[in-house]
Amino acid sequence: MKPLSIKEGKHFIEDIPLSDLVDKFGTPIIVYSKSQIIENIEKFRKAFSIFSDHEAHYAVKANYNPNILEILKQNGIGADAANPNEAKLAVQIGFDKKMITVTPNNLTRDELNFLVKEKFIVNFDDEIQYSLVENKVDLFSIRINPGIGKGEFKGITTGGKNSKFGTSPDKAKLAYEKAKKDGVERFGIHMHTGSNVLDPQFFKESSLAFFKISKIISKEVGIRFEYLDIGGGYGVPYQPYVEDLDIDRVAQNIKSNLMLPEINESLGSFKLITEPGRFMVANSAVILSKVTNVKKTDRNFIGTNLSFNTMIRHALYGAKHHFEIMDKLSGKYKKFIITGQACENTDRLGENIPLIEPRLDDVLITYTAGAYITSMSSNYNLLGRPMEILVDGSKVKIIRKPDDLPSILGPFLT
Ligand code: LLP
Repeated sequence: MKPLSIKEGKHFIEDIPLSDLVDKFGTPIIVYSKSQIIENIEKFRKAFSIFSDHEAHYAVKANYNPNILEILKQNGIGADAANPNEAKLAVQIGFDKKMITVTPNNLTRDELNFLVKEKFIVNFDDEIQYSLVENKVDLFSIRINPGIGKGEFKGITTGGKNSKFGTSPDKAKLAYEKAKKDGVERFGIHMHTGSNVLDPQFFKESSLAFFKISKIISKEVGIRFEYLDIGGGYGVPYQPYVEDLDIDRVAQNIKSNLMLPEINESLGSFKLITEPGRFMVANSAVILSKVTNVKKTDRNFIGTNLSFNTMIRHALYGAKHHFEIMDKLSGKYKKFIITGQACENTDRLGENIPLIEPRLDDVLITYTAGAYITSMSSNYNLLGRPMEILVDGSKVKIIRKPDDLPSILGPFLT
């Protein structure tokens, strides 16, 4: 399973045996394949090349390691930031400001005015956030809730009912009228309806709803949208038996909506913006951790030195990652609950996980660890975040030091 291969009976990442990395750096470590990220970027870009004007803005929140951002920037991708800090980092990395969007939620007056003053393009979450802005914005864009949403889990579904994000088409229309009255002449429009969607059909439905809303607003307010931003959500398989999202089909589905005369005529020419996060990086990394316990109570537990402070996705959403034991390619499978070192019974990386029974000190591989792992990690229990390593062919670069006690305690004042 990506990004690993098996050679001479061993797990490899690019040209390096994983066991070499464990020998050299210990555990836990997060290891990324640079070529996998580039392959993902190219696949995405190729699919959307059927649009005459398309820009992919990587969702920084998926993984903000500056080395990862650098790869995306170097390969022509823009950035979508969630707040001033993410926006500042994107600038620091060298993303062209014209290719940075900021799609924030519940910002303070000061944060919003900072973004406007610094001439960032903001997709305002709603009309109330826009009302906090003091100066005229260069371009006005608002996040629409198109009334439908889809995500792998309830917790990552952001469109439709019960969403804290976005505004209704009716309220958005009033906000565009207000912006026009404020003298704004440039406009965009945004949606993001959920995450890890593997069904190309959903993108057809959500983009159609979005294009229809955009068309009505454009016509009734008498404005032209420079860009239509359809957000992220492009899913990746977390299990070897699940198929990749057919990203070509996704792009074709979106395009087919634009060919409909009733959509096509009224929207004129615009840039299509997408905001892939997970698609670009999730499958590029694995976590290597040590098996520290194999115990049978009423259940079969594996203990490891990777805890939910680093990998919260199972405890938070019930996410199911794929696991293997490094270099153990045959043997009898048993089902395990995989747990870490944190003092909570919810500290579980996965349950019902089929694994060839490990021995103490074996190395556990956690797959699909490139997105929403380190960016959502914490120091609960004073547990440290792991070292991160980028592999490029046979080259190895440390791209994050592991936390240690002084680095965790650094911000505390005594
Ligand atoms: N654009 C906006 C405005 C977003 O809020 C997000 C993700 C994206 C783009 C990128 O979505 P993606 O292409 O990665 O699906 N922590 C969760 C995922 C939360 C996604 C939050 N927003 C997880 O671990 O699955």
